[in-house]
Amino acid sequence: MNLSLKKYPKLFFLHGLLFLFADINSFSQPVLIQNIYGRNHQSLNGRWNYIIDPYEMGYYDYRHMPFDQSESGKGGFYDDKKPKDKGDWVEYEFDLSPSVKIPGDWNSQVEKLELYEGTVWFRQKFNADPLSQKKYILYFGAVNYEAHVYLNGKKLGSHKGGFTPFQFDVTGKLTKGENFVVVKADNKRFQDEIPTVNTDWWNYGGITRDVLLAELPDTYISDYKVQLAKGNLKMIEGFVQLEGDQKNQQVTITIAEAGIKQTVNTDGNGKASIHIPVKSMEYWSPENPKLYTVEIESASDKLNDKIGFRTIETKGQDIILNGKSIFLRGISMHDENPLIPGRLRGQGDMRMMLNWVKELNCNYVRLAHYPHSEEMTRLADEMGLLVWAEVPVYWTISWLNEETYKNAEKQLSDLMTRDKNRSSVIVWSIGNETPISEPRNIFMGKLATVARSMDNTRLVAAALEIHRKGSNVVVEDPLGDKLDLVSFNEYAGWYWSSTKDMLNYKFDIKFNKPVVVTEFGADALGGFHADDETRWSEEYQDLLYKNQFKMLSAINGLRGMTPWILVDFRSPRRQHPYFQDFWNRKGLISETGKKKMAFHTLKGFYDGIQVKYK
Ligand code: GCU
Repeated sequence: MNLSLKKYPKLFFLHGLLFLFADINSFSQPVLIQNIYGRNHQSLNGRWNYIIDPYEMGYYDYRHMPFDQSESGKGGFYDDKKPKDKGDWVEYEFDLSPSVKIPGDWNSQVEKLELYEGTVWFRQKFNADPLSQKKYILYFGAVNYEAHVYLNGKKLGSHKGGFTPFQFDVTGKLTKGENFVVVKADNKRFQDEIPTVNTDWWNYGGITRDVLLAELPDTYISDYKVQLAKGNLKMIEGFVQLEGDQKNQQVTITIAEAGIKQTVNTDGNGKASIHIPVKSMEYWSPENPKLYTVEIESASDKLNDKIGFRTIETKGQDIILNGKSIFLRGISMHDENPLIPGRLRGQGDMRMMLNWVKELNCNYVRLAHYPHSEEMTRLADEMGLLVWAEVPVYWTISWLNEETYKNAEKQLSDLMTRDKNRSSVIVWSIGNETPISEPRNIFMGKLATVARSMDNTRLVAAALEIHRKGSNVVVEDPLGDKLDLVSFNEYAGWYWSSTKDMLNYKFDIKFNKPVVVTEFGADALGGFHADDETRWSEEYQDLLYKNQFKMLSAINGLRGMTPWILVDFRSPRRQHPYFQDFWNRKGLISETGKKKMAFHTLKGFYDGIQVKYK
């Protein structure tokens, strides 16, 4: 449907109004607890029993009414105890059902679920000893895509979005001794969701990240931001937020190693801004990823976090880190282990991936196309890698659907809430390769505004659209006006042109901003060798990389790149039986861990860049 402002002025006027009144808080949930790992918590990770439920028998009765909205609220698979009125014909039994490892997607753990899209129920039993003067938060790192959560047979709530954390206050809902939590996870795709039905990555379903039960003081430190002010190496700015009845408290922020100790008074909402002058400190950078222990203490609570301090800004076509011009020597990656396919399972998997990134002599990584785990960004803090973080506003989104917009904004704000203290994160990306139209420009423009209003200390970007005009690759996507970087994906030599002819093209970029190319690359089947004009060979991919460096180096404002992609990854869109077999082969490393020729070529290019930017 091709909408235009001329033909449908009223629609766009109404549409604009709808957005104006789409109250940013209309969807806001209780603030996500900051630094869950730094709180007193027990892990509910481990083996959870599961029940595959393609017809959602555990959620709807035979008249397709949700059990959890019925009068008794009983009858669904969430009621782990056999409902008395059902006698023995109950048709599910978690104790006798198989189990999978949580966190972990179901596709890679249960063969018959490799391509499954639908509902799977999960149940975990755990012991608790709830104390009266404590608060309890049940926290999920991520469930893809829609989760309905029940505790001891009672519904806690639901959540949409496959890559961002969510939580439930379960204070007063835990029993002393054994409890059980049941999760209905459903990874079906729909046009109006975020992402929409078409993506070039595997639709891993399930509880893919940690499940934690945090025990907190009655009034606790729920949120805080402690970062350098925009462009100011001498000032720490942010806030602390208390949750609970004792809203007015003194809160002390201590960074002992930097000689910092400041006390603030929270207001009636439990909030206090912080402005702390910096005498001297080691600034965080890829070369020196210095993390400080930041202690935050109130009358009733105390926590520590590991935080790096750096500034990031743009000046004309330059990207400036801690006052110094840098080049982003990057690579893109998905949240997937190539060697044992499935979502990255924990620190070991993540460290393997980021060690490969460091081997490439990268100082930067694009965590595509959705929020990766908090552990991943904390690891990037520790290992010294700058990060492009992204929400899955990917390709052909339903731009005119207000619920879709709210979903996108919620996933963006949850990502930014979770990672606002991570020094590695320098870019909030609001999307990837979204087709240009007036509704898309409004939708994306609004996301950019929200990103800036939530955090003015980082850059806002997206992978823009490009088009070819004669021998020019033109970058003039109107969304670029709202962003700090000119970023785009271009597949010269693979999806258009060839290694032979690609050097005939030049870039015509209509923005005076730093250019950070978000994707280029070619498929190569690891170990397949031929001449450099034979597609799918390592030689073809390698020559394409060499030619890309020649083409891109002609761009004056080139300040970074994240070639596509570190390792081969699973995709339901890649069906060639010999070269692909449901793998996207643009990796520089194969799914057997074999480094292809282009891996070494990219490293050599980055070694040269590093010398130039010394
Ligand atoms: C697109 C897209 C990627 C995709 C890649 C490809 O630009 O952003 O998600 O995997 O191209 O076609 O391999």
